[in-house]
Amino acid sequence: MSKSDFGLIGLAVMGQNLVLNVESRGFQVSVYNRTTNVTDAFVAAHPDKKLVGAQSLEEFVESLASPRKVMIMVKAGGPVDAVIESLIPLLDMGDIIIDGGNSLYTDTERRDQWLGDLGFRFIGAGVSGGEEGARKGPSIMPGGPASTWDVMKPIFESIAAKVDGEPCVTHIGPGGAGHYVKMIHNGIEYGDMQLICEAYNIFKAAGFEAADLAEVFTNWNNGDLESYLIQITAEIFKQQDPQTGKALVDLILDTAGQKGTGKWTLINAVENAVVISTINAAVEARILSSMKDKRVAASKVLKGPKPEIDIKKKKLVKKVHDALFASKIISYAQGLDLISAMGAEKGWDLDLAKIAAIWRGGCIIRARFLNDITEAYRTDAKLSNLMLAPFFTEILNGFQENWREVISLATLAGIPVPAFSASLGYYDSYRSAVLPANLLQAQRDFFGAHTYERTDKPRGEMFHTDWPEVIG
Ligand code: 6PG
Repeated sequence: MSKSDFGLIGLAVMGQNLVLNVESRGFQVSVYNRTTNVTDAFVAAHPDKKLVGAQSLEEFVESLASPRKVMIMVKAGGPVDAVIESLIPLLDMGDIIIDGGNSLYTDTERRDQWLGDLGFRFIGAGVSGGEEGARKGPSIMPGGPASTWDVMKPIFESIAAKVDGEPCVTHIGPGGAGHYVKMIHNGIEYGDMQLICEAYNIFKAAGFEAADLAEVFTNWNNGDLESYLIQITAEIFKQQDPQTGKALVDLILDTAGQKGTGKWTLINAVENAVVISTINAAVEARILSSMKDKRVAASKVLKGPKPEIDIKKKKLVKKVHDALFASKIISYAQGLDLISAMGAEKGWDLDLAKIAAIWRGGCIIRARFLNDITEAYRTDAKLSNLMLAPFFTEILNGFQENWREVISLATLAGIPVPAFSASLGYYDSYRSAVLPANLLQAQRDFFGAHTYERTDKPRGEMFHTDWPEVIG
């Protein structure tokens, strides 16, 4: 039998779908799974496809054409290292290992160094799009040496989603850059999801039922909010529970899970001193949601207004639309700001226009407005903040009134809108020529002689005051 063009280890659903995607582009693919029954069942289920099911890693490696291209699709963390370790004695110099899981970028940097020192080539590739994306065309964010990318490019470009004929994959940068950008993608995904949930919560307080919401979200998906997450939300509202005939969404317990990429994004933002308050609020909202028992207990003792919003439905839909869109812009502005700061810190030379462009299709955050984000960075690669691109400035200026009103309405009705509020707080802080940090500097100088600058003196000149002593 001829040697395979590509090999994949880890036949969970994402792995299986990626294999079928690669095979469908004309490549022969070898597959290996630790539990070999899974391999056998998978190959048997696709008798007409160019698949080679290997019973052992030796057989798997042996079946691949040189330089071997081995993609690992196993759980992030220890399992990735374990697979790499078992591959090392079997591979030849120059063979390529691709980690397509949601690995922490620092792990990817370590593996890049480790495998590079041994003479292998390594690519840490973020792959987004869930099961369907993997099968039909994901967005792929590969990091690693440019020369290795060149070898992988034909396969990656053929399997990636396409937007206007352009594949949703580009070489992100060296080392852990690919997994880093995928991590921020996920942080933004958290933000988008939470903002949608807050809109939903406001609508619920105004008496919208699942069927009304399906209509709202379907309409939104035909306008400037068009995106995968809005689209699936419309579908979710249409879904009935077969047992009770009720809207399924109303029967799902309100406790969110998370695997870690959002939390990693926050840690990295703090390390880089970049504000990502919308994503932060989204991660924290998931944490608060998971404390179900504590919330139920507190709901019995802590008072608040009745969660009711009394406003004409059509009006509310427009206002919430504006609040959602404005907040979404802020969330992306923050995520992209973090990518830009980290890119500069690491010397990765990241191209934000290219990153935004490959998020236009295939991935979970794909959205119509990513065309405008791409355009904004194509026009000005050094854009200091997405809010300042004329297209987005105009939207924010136009929507800010409704945005404020929605947050006021929700707050007065006791409905938590942490991500909407965090977004507006960022917007208002960022556009404030004067903030109250003068008082903060006075406090710092008072208790710690940390000194301050003065408004009437040149920047950099430091002052200290002998503040009165306070007793007690
Ligand atoms: C994607 C998704 C995918 C996965 C997330 C979900 O881009 O395809 O982001 O990677 O669904 O890991 O993460 P949580 O379990 O943390 O929500």
